[in-house]
Amino acid sequence: MNFKSQLDEVEVFSKVAQAAKNLRLETYVVGGFVRDLVLGRPCKDIDFTCVGSGIKLAEEVAKQFDYHVPLSVFKNFGTAMLKVEEYELEFVGARKESYRLESRKPIVEDGTLQEDLERRDFTINAMAISLNEENFGDLIDPFRGLADIKKKIIRTPLDASITFSDDPLRMLRAVRFASQLDFDIEPDTFFALADNASRLEIISSERIIVELNKIILVKKPSYGFKLLFAGKLLQEFFPEMVALQGVDSVDDKSHKDNFYHTLQVLDNVCQVSNDLYLRWAAILHDIAKPATKRFNTKVGWTFHGHEDKGARMVPEIFRRLKLPMDERMKYVQKLVRLHLRPIALIKDEVTDSALRRLLFDAGDAIDDLMKLCRADVTSKNNKKVKRYLENFDKVDEKLLEVEEKDQMRNFQPPISGEEVMQVFNLEPSKIVGEIKEEIKEAILEGRIHNNPIEARELMIKIAKKKGLTPVNNP
Ligand code: CTP
Repeated sequence: MNFKSQLDEVEVFSKVAQAAKNLRLETYVVGGFVRDLVLGRPCKDIDFTCVGSGIKLAEEVAKQFDYHVPLSVFKNFGTAMLKVEEYELEFVGARKESYRLESRKPIVEDGTLQEDLERRDFTINAMAISLNEENFGDLIDPFRGLADIKKKIIRTPLDASITFSDDPLRMLRAVRFASQLDFDIEPDTFFALADNASRLEIISSERIIVELNKIILVKKPSYGFKLLFAGKLLQEFFPEMVALQGVDSVDDKSHKDNFYHTLQVLDNVCQVSNDLYLRWAAILHDIAKPATKRFNTKVGWTFHGHEDKGARMVPEIFRRLKLPMDERMKYVQKLVRLHLRPIALIKDEVTDSALRRLLFDAGDAIDDLMKLCRADVTSKNNKKVKRYLENFDKVDEKLLEVEEKDQMRNFQPPISGEEVMQVFNLEPSKIVGEIKEEIKEAILEGRIHNNPIEARELMIKIAKKKGLTPVNNP
């Protein structure tokens, strides 16, 4: 197979080929770019391997561009990068690598193209395209990566246990590529996952989360999670999610498997949103079900309080997985805590005050909360699903009405603490907070409207009951 015509479309390749010729260096395009070219996916990162010095080659390429392209040299790693328009080019000499058991940092020695390719992770990433005059554009594919792309399989070029124990992060990459490309993992490669899973311990959480987030961001992430679970990888870094799996039965009463339910909710959310943290909220919405599970002879299985306990588990999970400990974590926590509230609004005769409270508590997350709740309807009974979703439509309508009337979504107290202190000549103290809280409650309950005039009137009344009199006429 030859890719000359595709390479001719991008100026970079002729320049690199010219530089390689000037230096008499055997040079190839390798790795992800070749894979993506075969798959017809656009790719702006291009890796070049030469049999010799990658740094010298990069310098010669820069010369071909009259040095109008920024060059960065990393002497310690023997690599160099060039930025040419939207492309990032990386140059490195062909290497053979061997790994020590306790680290993923390899011992590197110069090698041939074949040695360079065989140390790579998967056959689909172990193809090269020649930039040499005698066979420019030829695909070099010693491990039959092209056939694997056609068969849609992920397979390691060497024995999978060697490839994975060399660099355990590759086990997550296997699942990630399978998820992104919708490929199968070839059986020997797959069985090696479970055999080497414990080796993930030498991989930092920062690297694990990069791969996990990529798996979560695909169109249908349940597939990746099932692979992570079946390959015993999830057990290594996310035991809380593994604990969701399984069904208990007492007196012929069983509950649903919360692992597969969670995956269904996640896939549902992915159909309506690309937001990584809404997806995380779906993953974590029932995370406390195992911890709150009880059996009651009258009502069967219950998970009382799992939404609150789940919200309390979020910071520890975020901290351990090295997810951001900022407003994104708080947003996920909020969705987990509130995920049952809209359902309650369906069941009860809904009062405006319940709607106002939900708008107040959810704030800007209300739309995502409704998406999560809809996604949470996973019954196999289509009629039931339809009925639930229609009920949520009604909740949406009511929320909209109340929102228009009362602007509760980003509730700002109509009276500030400063004002309370000024009117009654108070120092900052508990009583100021109590007055503000009572005003907020009155607004949420609908006893007064959300405006400063009614709020001031009420403030005077509340204060009077507490034995306070205004020093200034408000
Ligand atoms: N590689 C590897 N083992 C790793 C990481 C990378 O063997 N743990 C090799 C693969 O041949 C890969 C190439 O290095 O194709 C480039 O790696 P990287 O840029 O991380 O991945 P890509 O394959 O380009 O894919 P993506 O950009 O989607 O991460």
